[in-house]
Amino acid sequence: MKKILVTRNLLDENEKRILKLFDAKLNKEDKLYSPEEVIALSENCDGILSFTTSVLNRETINKLSDSVKIIANYAVGLGNIDIDSAKKRGIVVTNTPHVLTDATADISILLLLGASRRAYEGRKAAEQQNWNWSADLLLGKQMSNRKLGILGMGRIGRAVAQRAKGFGMEIHYHNRSKLSPDLEHGAIYHSDIKSLFAQSEFLSINCPATPDTINLLNEETIKYLPDGAVVANAARGDVINDDAMIKAMKSGKVFALGLDVYNGEPKINEEYLKLNNLFLLPHLGSATKVTRIGMGDRAIDNLEDFFSNKRPKDQVN
Ligand code: DGY
Repeated sequence: MKKILVTRNLLDENEKRILKLFDAKLNKEDKLYSPEEVIALSENCDGILSFTTSVLNRETINKLSDSVKIIANYAVGLGNIDIDSAKKRGIVVTNTPHVLTDATADISILLLLGASRRAYEGRKAAEQQNWNWSADLLLGKQMSNRKLGILGMGRIGRAVAQRAKGFGMEIHYHNRSKLSPDLEHGAIYHSDIKSLFAQSEFLSINCPATPDTINLLNEETIKYLPDGAVVANAARGDVINDDAMIKAMKSGKVFALGLDVYNGEPKINEEYLKLNNLFLLPHLGSATKVTRIGMGDRAIDNLEDFFSNKRPKDQVN
């Protein structure tokens, strides 16, 4: 049986399956392994089932044992893995697309609504039990029938568009390339972000973190947004420059922000925490049982394919 290091705890359903197929080294205590621990624990392993919290950068990959032939990531995002270094070492890398599209698109809508309808302030006021209904109590921005900009029109971006149409929103998007009409479903393409942002009364960030998207919302580009825009990020924290965003939230340029992901998470820029116009969640994009089981199954499928000498369906390198 092939030996697999599993770097975090799996749900029971996935655990049962991996134990049937592989000699799996589990992490029942769900310890956050350091890179040194991953290197040591995977020493005699054939593969690693890694999670978004496992940093497999160049240095770590270069120190992995020659026996490691595949890293199956339990995430669609691959920001935790240096794919090129893995390729250079002949290590296959896979991710888990499709299965988390719906859950993450749902969270994008939750972030947009939570931010625009002032859910954080609302919860605080309700808890205090002395609020007084009034015509102007915690007035928010209404999403219905407004313009939504989507940054990154991959599977998740398109699922956000589909949901937003239920709110009567007009969909605008920017992507590396224009989608075919059957995928666009009437959404309006912008070849540059200046033009997308200018239309984005609401903006949903759904692009991966790449050298092109890191820091994309910065001091300069935030100015392109309409005054009082609402922004939601369910993708990766490093797409936003926090200092520029905090400034924009303080000035009202950005009415409110919804965040599920952070620069350097789980840490959050302290200045954010002083703001009321922030609705935040702890990276819950894919956090439903059905989705997490789907992600585990997909990662195990990829390992199974690889060790049956088939190209894993989610191989990225
Ligand atoms: C992903 O799959 O990239 C998610 O962010 C992990 O929850």
